[in-house]
Amino acid sequence: MKAELEAIQAEALEALKAVKTPDALESLRITYFGRRGKLTDVMKGMGTLSKAERPAIGKLANEVRTTLTQAFEKATEALHHQQQAQQLEAESVDITLPGRKPAYGKAHPVMQTLERIEAIFSQMGFQVATGPEVEMEYYNFDALNTPADHPARDLHDTFYLEARGWKQHPQEEGEDARSERLLRTHTSPVQIRVMENQKPPVRIIVPGKAYRVDYDVSHTPMFHQVEGLLVDTHATFSELKGVLASFVRQMFGEQTQMRFRPHFFPFTEPSAEIDISCTVCQGKGCRSCGHTGWIEILGAGSVDPEVFHAVNYNPAEVTGFAFGMGVERIANLQFRIPDIRTFYENDLRFLRQF
Ligand code: PHE
Repeated sequence: MKAELEAIQAEALEALKAVKTPDALESLRITYFGRRGKLTDVMKGMGTLSKAERPAIGKLANEVRTTLTQAFEKATEALHHQQQAQQLEAESVDITLPGRKPAYGKAHPVMQTLERIEAIFSQMGFQVATGPEVEMEYYNFDALNTPADHPARDLHDTFYLEARGWKQHPQEEGEDARSERLLRTHTSPVQIRVMENQKPPVRIIVPGKAYRVDYDVSHTPMFHQVEGLLVDTHATFSELKGVLASFVRQMFGEQTQMRFRPHFFPFTEPSAEIDISCTVCQGKGCRSCGHTGWIEILGAGSVDPEVFHAVNYNPAEVTGFAFGMGVERIANLQFRIPDIRTFYENDLRFLRQF
């Protein structure tokens, strides 16, 4: 039995040296210390020894058990340290690498432009008003002096929200027809909504989305406009010119030229389209301005008396002017985007540049 114990000790110590993983260590422990383990077996056999043999063998057995227990503890600890070292190595930070910048969110370029436009008009005393994007035909067209049979209606390719088939002649059905729902084609209906609810004077701008059936390099089906409306006892066309000249200089720079071209809108009379000198070529003529030196940025005019009638304002007592501009257009002049649709493709490589 003495030889057996010595053999077990030698064998176990040797086996421990080869152990590389906690699992292997555990199965080795079971081989010796388990219920059916080799050392356990020997200890169980002690009962068969004679009285004379027992003290010496018992002492040896205890020594072997202590030695092996300690050896197993040491092996466990060594494995543990080794694993920690490996983990540390794996998690070690290379302090020579450049740091990673956190990505901050920021306003979309069109919103940046919109905010600038708003800031400029706010300083001139205009208040921000808003209205619904799902609009009634009445506010989008009729009240803006654009009845159903008016040719100007066809200029706006409108998204209607109800099938038109079951209402063949909406204009013949009176009130009902005027409440047909559509996506507003401009922000001008908010002029009507504000004037219906407020006595003059009025001095508002209306930033918001508008919708038209249109899709090419310079049109998206959803786009943004800023509407302006000023109504007072003596609002004049020359004041309109002053307000817009001030806006243009602040938005595009002191040296920017501006010109008014006669135009037609059903809800203003007289009406004009306003061009600014091309910001790319300073008016010399280039591809951006179609070699004309001018770029159209807004429509405007004096409020048509018919519009005042629609909101129960007395055209003998008040006058006004209104204007409307396309925000994507202006963002384009600021940022020089060849295709306006890029604004809405949400390509982060594009958006991160602003
Ligand atoms: N609503 C017009 C458009 O979308 C712009 C406009 C607004 C013109 C106000 C005159 C006055 O084209």
